[in-house]
Amino acid sequence: MKRALGVGLAALLGAAPLAMASTEADDLERRAAESREVVRAFMQALKGELMRAMQEGGPVRAIAVCRERAPAVAARFSRKTGWEVGRTSLRYRNPANAPDAWERHVLESFEARRRAGEPAARLEHYEVTVRDGRRVFRYMKAIPTGGVCLACHGERLAPEVARALDRHYPGDRARGFRVGDIRGAFTIVQPLD
Ligand code: HEC
Repeated sequence: MKRALGVGLAALLGAAPLAMASTEADDLERRAAESREVVRAFMQALKGELMRAMQEGGPVRAIAVCRERAPAVAARFSRKTGWEVGRTSLRYRNPANAPDAWERHVLESFEARRRAGEPAARLEHYEVTVRDGRRVFRYMKAIPTGGVCLACHGERLAPEVARALDRHYPGDRARGFRVGDIRGAFTIVQPLD
C-alpha cells in the first residue's frame, strides 16, 4: 500500500518519494537483520547454558538452569539492546512466556506454514505495528524442536524429570513435542517513537 503510493507520487513528482519509500523498506530490513543477529546470540547463549548444565548434572539439574538462567539471559539482551527480547509459545511452560494476541496470531501462521511444507527453522515474520497506542517494530523467529529438547519437552519424560517439572510448573503445556515441531519462537519488540 505504502509502496504503491510512493510509486504513484514518484510518477507525479519525480524521484524523491520513491527514495523515501525505499528508505522505509531499508529501515525495515535493517531492523530485521539486527533482530536476526540478536536472536542468534540469544539462542547461542541459551544453548551454551543448557548443554553445560545437561553435561554436568543431567536434565533435572538443567531444569533449574533453564528456570533461572533463561529469564536472566533474556533480561540481559533486553537491557543491552533497549528492546524487549524473549521467547514465547502456543504451548508454554512458564506462563510468563504466554503470547500476546499479535504473537499468538504469528505462531498460528507459523503452524500453518509448517503444515504447508516450510521447515520450522526457516520461519520468521516481522512488521511495523501499533501496540498500546505506540508504533513498534516486531520480529519473531520460530524455534524448532531438536533431539536434545525431548528430555524436557518430549512425549516420554524420565519420571524424575516429570516430577521436577510438575513441582515448578503445575500448568505445564510444553510436553509432547516431536523433533521438527515448532517448540515456540523468539520474539523481539523494538520501540519506534
Ligand atoms: C533440562 C530441561 C530442558 C531442556 C533439555 C530444554 N528445555 Fe526448554 N524449557 C525448560 C524449562 C524449565 C523452561 C521454562 C523456563 C522458564 O521458566 O522461563 C523451558 C522453556 C522453554 C521455552 C520458552 C517457552 C515456554 O515454554 O515457557 C522454549 C521456547 C524452550 N524451552 C525451547 C527449548 C528448546 C528448543 C530446547 C532444545 C534445544 C529446550 N527447550 C530444551 C526445560 C528444558
